[in-house]
Amino acid sequence: MKIKIAPSILASDFAKFGETVELLERNGADYIHCDVMDGNFVPPITFGAQAVKAFRPHTSLPLDCHLMVTRPAARLEEFANARADIITVHVEADRENLIKNLEKIKALGVKASAVINPSTRAEELFPACEIADMVLLMSVVPGWGGQKFIPETLKKIEAVKNYCIRLGRDIDIEVDGGITEDNVKDVISAGANVIVAGSTVFRSPDMAATIARLRG
Ligand code: DX5
Ligand code: ZN
Repeated sequence: MKIKIAPSILASDFAKFGETVELLERNGADYIHCDVMDGNFVPPITFGAQAVKAFRPHTSLPLDCHLMVTRPAARLEEFANARADIITVHVEADRENLIKNLEKIKALGVKASAVINPSTRAEELFPACEIADMVLLMSVVPGWGGQKFIPETLKKIEAVKNYCIRLGRDIDIEVDGGITEDNVKDVISAGANVIVAGSTVFRSPDMAATIARLRG
């Protein structure tokens, strides 16, 4: 599977999002990872669909929207209208309606994805593997950038990858949190192909080189 790098603009200057997404595109990013936090599912508040809509004219890259919100079902339409390309919902946010929410995202013409927290078992992602376009595994507790990668995530990536192989579904597997140039190889070997990186990309003195090296 092609390796894609999805820099998270959470680590960037919040006063310059337009310029930042342009910069990421020029420097070889594959996706723009948008961390939407509602102050409820996770303590911080970042931005919502209106901001995502404002990013759209600045880039042709896919807008990869990671919704850390308590009631994702109520938000899907507004992110589709904002021309998000991928919408990811947390399994923990609404376990009962996970499949329904993924189906709704697909019906809106957007790629559908589900995500689990580090404390959630890999098996909870299995039902999503059957219908989603992508699945995401958090390798830090969501809410903040700049945390340390949780190594136990590697086994979970393998479990999800093996399950997808058994299903015969070649879907994207994204990993988010604490990814560096040192640990990215392990993440990719475990089976992930979409790499989110916030601080690693934005703290780099040479963004293009860092993005290229993360891709391996
Ligand atoms: C955490 C976010 C991540 C975060 C990653 O809640 O979902 O996308 O920005 O940042 P780093 O790469 O710094 O861990
Ligand atoms: Zn994220």
